[in-house]
Amino acid sequence: MAWYKVADAFDLSKPFIRKVSAGGKSICLVNADKVYAVSSKCPHAGADLSGGWCKNGKLICPFHRYAYDLETGKGAPGQNDFINVYSVEIKDDGVYVQVTSWLERLTGKK
Ligand code: FES
Repeated sequence: MAWYKVADAFDLSKPFIRKVSAGGKSICLVNADKVYAVSSKCPHAGADLSGGWCKNGKLICPFHRYAYDLETGKGAPGQNDFINVYSVEIKDDGVYVQVTSWLERLTGKK
């Protein structure tokens, strides 16, 4: 697992959704009640979730309005899908996201 800096230190007082990349992954950085990092591609039909919006702790896809929990990535009941979630750390110099490689996931090594 590696930590990647995805943004410089910035104003976290305003909500935002930004598309960033880390470790070869395309990620949505979401500042709602806290900062979340989730995959940016909607599993339903591939929409860019960074064009969506947040509602009640969920990220809403702009295409067909599927909803994904920002904490767990789990889709709303009936969707039977999920998005990946990544650990986030806020440091003085910026925002970091932890990404696990496919080999680490396959082997279970950390
Ligand atoms: S592409 Fe996201 S809900 Fe359909």
